[in-house]
Amino acid sequence: MIPLPLSTIAEITGGTLHGPPDVVVSGPVVIDSRAVEPGALFAALQGKRADGHDFAAGVLAAGAAAVLAQRPVEGPCVVVADVREALGRLARGLLERLPDVTVVAVTGSAGKTSTKDLIAQVVSRAGPVVYPPGSFNNEIGLPLTVLRADARTRHLVLEMGARGIGHIAYLTGIARPDVGVVLNVGTAHVGEFGGRENIARAKGELVEAVPPGGTAVLNADDPLVAAMASRTRGEVVTFGRSPDALVRAEDETLDERGRARFTLVAPEGAAPVALRLHGSHAVQNALAAAAAARAAGLGPEVIAEALSAAVPVSRWRMEVTERADGVTVVNDAYNANPDSTRAALDALVHMARGRRAYAVLGEMGELGAVSVAEHAKIGQHVARSGIAGLIVVGANAAAMAEGAGQVASWTGECVQVDDVGAAVAALSERLAPRDVVLVKGSRVAGLERVAEALLAEDAR
Ligand SMILES: Nc1ncnc2c1ncn2[C@@H]1O[C@H](COP(=O)(O)OP(=O)(O)OP(=O)(O)O)[C@@H](O)[C@H]1O
Ligand SMILES: [Mg+2]
Repeated sequence: MIPLPLSTIAEITGGTLHGPPDVVVSGPVVIDSRAVEPGALFAALQGKRADGHDFAAGVLAAGAAAVLAQRPVEGPCVVVADVREALGRLARGLLERLPDVTVVAVTGSAGKTSTKDLIAQVVSRAGPVVYPPGSFNNEIGLPLTVLRADARTRHLVLEMGARGIGHIAYLTGIARPDVGVVLNVGTAHVGEFGGRENIARAKGELVEAVPPGGTAVLNADDPLVAAMASRTRGEVVTFGRSPDALVRAEDETLDERGRARFTLVAPEGAAPVALRLHGSHAVQNALAAAAAARAAGLGPEVIAEALSAAVPVSRWRMEVTERADGVTVVNDAYNANPDSTRAALDALVHMARGRRAYAVLGEMGELGAVSVAEHAKIGQHVARSGIAGLIVVGANAAAMAEGAGQVASWTGECVQVDDVGAAVAALSERLAPRDVVLVKGSRVAGLERVAEALLAEDAR
């Protein structure tokens, strides 16, 4: 963050200053008292379990310059009506003071974090970049990320998530995207939205916020995303596998470990890409990143080279580890929805070719009324893919087993277990050298513990 006197922070947030106006906040803005550094601004959030105000004295003693609070605390503070909202205002105010920063924002149903990490790695070739760890894509994580930018920052790469109409509009009100990327409109959180059309409406708020002179980066392969072209005042740049996409992949192949190679084709030229990321869905993310980086002024050669060098940054997304006995563990347990589960299953089948494939699947959350049907469809997909074994973890995923059972031609085995421990036990009895195991479920399922246990067996 650029150093700001407390009086300016009060002005930007519309809050009341308590304490000396010339106190300068120079450090990061933090919401976790343990992350306080000298000069920091501590935002006292009121959570369900803890109240940040209770930590005010401690953080000031630890060197924090001041507290952003909803009621006066002992020491320098700015008191506002709503700390969350004030974080947003402060972030917007900071960006107004950093006119040279290019804001790149990503939304979509699946792949936001993966794509955000890719964009950041590519545009870092053009100068210092600030981007969030993991998802950090809501009304708290986003401003906290913005507030890390300073005078040296060239690009700010942001993930914008939505659980309803208006959420992304709120986030773009904080950080207006110069480049707005929409990846896909799938079925994630479809329960909360009530239908894919509403999801498209919500995601499209991103490109509505792109100003004239900015760029809307849209997936040509996803009709609901391509249709957003009419909703932006920015220049439209399409990406995808379709021949009419402006930034596209040609001659795509997958190697035996499920990593894609392709020729990146853009109006400025073509260049070869060999991804280190696993799964063909990474191509969609890479093309989106390429189109965004192009909008930020990079050429195809640099983009292709940076994409080929890019590594997974955020954990539990298609992490592929080989055990000493040759068992391959694919840990994609960060999250799951029907689209990302199908993509991961397809990657599993491709990687297995000739080896036995096991899928350990937990529930896909937040699907509302279509939940049972979507779980059943995934079970059918597993069975039709000829996977050797399906381990269904938890009662909320049970319909997967029913779906798999409906495919009469499937010769594989389906096992239903209650929890992570039972899943690990079931696998231990079955796995043989050279098998490939995919582990995936929504965050609530916590299935990374299955992958970790499988790898720990290896260490022993
Ligand atoms: N383009 C894609 N299409 C389908 N699935 C994808 C795509 N990119 C990544 N995935 C898979 O989706 C899951 C989530 O990936 P990621 O964390 O990048 O998405 P996200 O949109 O940020 O999710 P969240 O809404 O949880 O923040 C991972 O399992 C990943 O392998
Ligand atoms: Mg994310």
